[in-house]
Amino acid sequence: MTFLELCKALRWSRLSQISYQRANFYSTKTKKKESSMPVNPLKEYYAASFQKENGVVYDKKPFKILCEKGKVYYWCLCGQSKNQPFCDGTHKNIFLKIKHRPVAFTVTETKEYWLCQCKQTNNRPFCDGTHLKEDVVVKRK
Ligand code: FES
Repeated sequence: MTFLELCKALRWSRLSQISYQRANFYSTKTKKKESSMPVNPLKEYYAASFQKENGVVYDKKPFKILCEKGKVYYWCLCGQSKNQPFCDGTHKNIFLKIKHRPVAFTVTETKEYWLCQCKQTNNRPFCDGTHLKEDVVVKRK
């Protein structure tokens, strides 16, 4: 084997190793991320899902609850409900002047889900870890 052939062989082996690592990285990392974060299939159909303002922090930690596939739930966004994490109609009280509306959601699989109770999540109504941010912790004492 000549020196040139040896260099080509080494280069080829290094390139294939890198492409294997990249393929492995993308195939495992992206699949894990996609599967771990639940999404609300009703998000596109209810404008309430896109309210810009978040409600008041009800609790600094999420609530784990069993949700049934296909059943429609109403998640409290205002943070004033006495039936957390679900809406109890408190936002309708005209004296409280609450502008938030509950977020309708459903799940694609019957299992336990972590529902946000800090009301600051970016993946309504599911907890996305925002409650760990310092400003959220400070809001609720
Ligand atoms: S409880 Fe709101 S993001 Fe976790």
